[in-house]
Parts: sequence; C-alpha cells; structure tokens
Amino acid sequence: MSAKSRKIVDVLNGKTISPPPLWLMRQAGRYLPEYRATRAEAGSFLDLCYSPELATEVTLQPIRRYGFDAAILFSDILVIPDALKRNVRFEEGHGPRLDPIDADGILKLDGKDVLKHLQPVMEAVGRIRGALPEETTLLGFCGAPWTVATYMIAGHGTPDQAPARLFAYREPKAFAHLLDTLAELSADYLVAQIDAGADAVQIFDSWAGVLGEKEFSEFAIKPVRKIIDSVKARRPQAKIIAFAKGAGLFLKTYRQATRADAIGLDWSVPLAFAAELQKDGPVQGNLDPMRVVAGGAALDEGIDAILQALGNGPLIFNLGHGITPQADPEHVTRLVARVRGENR
Ligand code: CP3
Repeated sequence: MSAKSRKIVDVLNGKTISPPPLWLMRQAGRYLPEYRATRAEAGSFLDLCYSPELATEVTLQPIRRYGFDAAILFSDILVIPDALKRNVRFEEGHGPRLDPIDADGILKLDGKDVLKHLQPVMEAVGRIRGALPEETTLLGFCGAPWTVATYMIAGHGTPDQAPARLFAYREPKAFAHLLDTLAELSADYLVAQIDAGADAVQIFDSWAGVLGEKEFSEFAIKPVRKIIDSVKARRPQAKIIAFAKGAGLFLKTYRQATRADAIGLDWSVPLAFAAELQKDGPVQGNLDPMRVVAGGAALDEGIDAILQALGNGPLIFNLGHGITPQADPEHVTRLVARVRGENR
C-alpha cells in the first residue's frame, strides 16, 4: 500500500473523507496506564524521547488501543533546545526547565551537532514506520520557532510569554537571529524525519495566541513560512500541518501566508469561521480537550457539532489542543466510535 492510500495523507491532499480520519494531539501520554508504565521504566522524560525502542513503544500504544488513523512520533518540541545544549530537563509537577538564554547566548548558539544529537529520534521514526499498520499515517513534528523561543528565553513555561515578548522588543536583532536559527534547524530536522519515514509533519505554534498583529506576522508567520519553504524545496511531496493555537482572526491568512497544506484549529475557533477556512483547504480540530475529560453528553455534542459543520469538507478530526492527563481512556474509546459513526 502506498502512502497515497493513507487517509490522513489523502485529506492533506484535499480529499473529503466521510467519516473523517482522526488522531489526537498528545495521544501518547499520561492518561494511558501503559504510557505511565513505560515512562517509569525509562527514567527521565528525555531518556524516553531518546530511546528508539521505548519511544516506538509509547508511539504505538494509542494505535493498538484505539486504531487512530495517524501515529505521532513520540518526542518533544524541546529536543531542539536540548540539542543546542540549553540544559533541558523535565521536573515532575513543574513542566520543562531550561537555562534561560540572553542575547549573547543566542549569538553563540551552534547548530552543527543538532542532527547528530537527534539521530535516536530518526531511528525511532524508522522503527515506528516499520511496526505501524500500512494504512496508518505517521506524523513527525517540531515546535514553531516562536513557541520554542518562548521556553528558551524564559527558561520555563509561563501563562502569557511576557519574558519572550519583552525580549523581542528589547533585543530585536538577537531575537530575529534566534528565530532564524530555530527555523533553519527545524527545517533540517523535519526533512530528516521525512527521510526516516514520516508521511507528513506538524508544526506546533502553541503560543501564537499571545502575539499582536505585527508580531504575529514577524514571529509566527515568517519563521513557519521559512521552514515550510525550505522543507518543500527539498522534499516537494512533503505535507505539512501548521497549528497556531489561539491565532483567532489571523487564521484568515495563515494558510496562504505559511503555505501549509492544512491548518490546525483550537476549540476557540467558531465553527462557521472554521467552515470558511475549510473552503481554502483541509482543517484539523477542534474539540475542547475538557469535553474528553467530561465525557457523556458534553463529549457527544462537541463531536457532533464539529462533524456537522466540517464533515462535508476535508477534515482531520482532532482535539483543539493536547489531551490532558485527567482524560478517562474510556471516553477516548467513545470518541473514536462516535466520530466513526458507530454510536451516533
Ligand atoms: O502528541 C503526542 O502524543 C506526541 C508527543 C508530544 C509531546 N509533546 C510529549 C510530551 C508532542 C507532539 C509534544 C509537543 C509539545 N511539547 C508542545 C506543543 C504542543 C502543546 O501541547 O502545546 C509543547 C509546548 C511542549 C513542551 C512541553 N513538553 C511542556 C510544556 C511539557 C510539560 C507539560 C506537561 O504536559 O507535562 C512537556 C512534557 C511532555 N511532552 C509530556 C509528554 C507526554 C509529559 C511529560 C511526562 O510524561 O512526564
């Protein structure tokens, strides 16, 4: 079976499929007992990311349990800063920590060993592709430069990315250099994932929603466009999903401006607006992850509304952001069946 008959690849090529194919952001994660077991075996979170064997195992877990139409490589957007020696660590209950970078540090960043450092990830991609059912799409991914930069500058997650916004105003040259460096490395990384066996890739701009108009254009659109242009120049067949969380009205021009094949939508995007965006090409989304925690009627109604509004065009059914650790795995079973028309 060629990659062309994989449903998610077909939707990325503009096809409408009914019922729509689905996967869930963060589908391999702490809501699954089997993930928690492998995670405990791995030791640290980064050890899990860099073990081809264990990363393959956790990538496949949600495919075995639910039969999603895509697997997403198990890794993290912060492996690039880790490869840039920013001392990334994941502390239980605190989220990620890094050494905060300043203008001097940005000028000293050296990307030459990054791909070498990330070889175990490419090895995992090859193993996953080899183990997946033929019909399942394999997605690679990276973080968008803006979102990765927010963590590199603050040294941790923040609710509004004030440190990175402030840094961008105070040190525009260094900040532009950081985004450029990350865009170049991310493009090389995505090409390597595609060469290792990824059918398509997603760029996560989880913090796009804190940017003003000019900044959205400079920090969110421009570097993502640069990644996409670079990947497509080298791998013209590559399919790319761009997910700019919280981008709101900026989504009107986001697909065209970035040249993404599909755009990811968070749950704050009104469905009528989503249907407008779908006239220009495939969309992915956008169920509120809290509906998966709630289950029952809240889950069913959210699914049905999306299928009704977007089901007649090219749609990849997904959440509007990652599934959370509180989600009940049984609710995911119910979600999959309902999207596939088995319990509607
Ligand atoms: O989607 C998948 O199943 C693939 C794996 C994946 C992870 N992170 C695993 C992970 C993907 C695609 C990501 C992307 C990612 N990582 C993003 C963009 C998407 C988003 O959620 O906004 C961001 C911002 C990060 C950075 C990151 N990694 C944070 C802020 C955290 C801590 C928050 C948390 O949920 O704990 C992580 C850790 C992380 N990445 C976990 C997983 C499964 C949990 C860590 C653990 O298992 O101990």
